[in-house]
Amino acid sequence: MNASRQTVLITGASGGIGYELAKLFARDHHNLVLVARSADKLARVATELRAQGVTVKTIALDLAAAPAPKFLFDQLQSGGVSVDILINNAGYGAFGDFAQMPEEEILGQINLNITALTQLTRLFLPSMVQRRSGRIMNVASTAGFQPGPLMAVYYATKAYVISLSEALANELRNTGVTVTCFCPGATHTGFAKRAGTEKSRLFKQLGAMNAEKVALDGYRAVMEGRTLAISGVHNWLVAESTRFAPRKMVTAVSRWVAEKVDS
Ligand SMILES: NC(=O)c1ccc[n+]([C@@H]2O[C@H](COP(=O)([O-])OP(=O)(O)OC[C@H]3O[C@@H](n4cnc5c(N)ncnc54)[C@H](OP(=O)(O)O)[C@@H]3O)[C@@H](O)[C@H]2O)c1
Repeated sequence: MNASRQTVLITGASGGIGYELAKLFARDHHNLVLVARSADKLARVATELRAQGVTVKTIALDLAAAPAPKFLFDQLQSGGVSVDILINNAGYGAFGDFAQMPEEEILGQINLNITALTQLTRLFLPSMVQRRSGRIMNVASTAGFQPGPLMAVYYATKAYVISLSEALANELRNTGVTVTCFCPGATHTGFAKRAGTEKSRLFKQLGAMNAEKVALDGYRAVMEGRTLAISGVHNWLVAESTRFAPRKMVTAVSRWVAEKVDS
């Protein structure tokens, strides 16, 4: 038994960045609790990762549904599972004008990206503070550094995640618990298809990173206890530039990047 073996809860672990993070934690002999909606995909991931000699528990849940975060917490409590590292990764975006966007898409993004993440953090944090040990990583996005016309709600949810995480990291200093806000830029996963942004200038012309590389950046950031980490030097430069450029210009560029193109 590896003495440093910890239990890591990863939401959105059936694919994309969450799946790549799960592989990294398994490689380093940590036990896993994996959550997503698709039970079949989770089962496949679990079979693959158990081959590394780690324990993998899967829980299929729609975290955007109101009772899900509390249900997940209660399930783990009653099973005697103590979470050492919480990775709030599940999230999604939707492309389109706000005025035409179906209410369920607007609330769906808020419920998953904001509400579930906040609830899970609040539920798992007290026992970490009590143990004076724990790590939380909230996956935001470079989208959180500026307004996002055509994906207004998604960008706003990620701004919330950055703000919440930096504030919590400050509140928790000297408690033994770290909060890391991890910000990927465009990444090749199932995200763009679900969001309807595969034909955006961002994904078609400006280029996206691969999920393995992005997950490795996130893994290092959470294990080092960094408060804010942006994946990719080019993404870091863009995020930093928004602090000095006029806000109207930043918003206009953000729209240009999100617009759909033919080639
Ligand atoms: N890809 C990008 O360009 C990009 C850029 C910046 C930030 N991010 C952020 O990175 C995180 C991971 O995204 P990704 O790119 O890896 O996307 P992805 O490939 O679409 O993966 C999303 C994961 O979340 C799960 N999920 C989605 N809705 C869920 C729900 N209601 N309840 C529970 N699980 C749910 C999905 O599994 P099921 O479908 O089985 O539920 C999947 O495992 C997100 O927070 C996203 O906002 C992505």
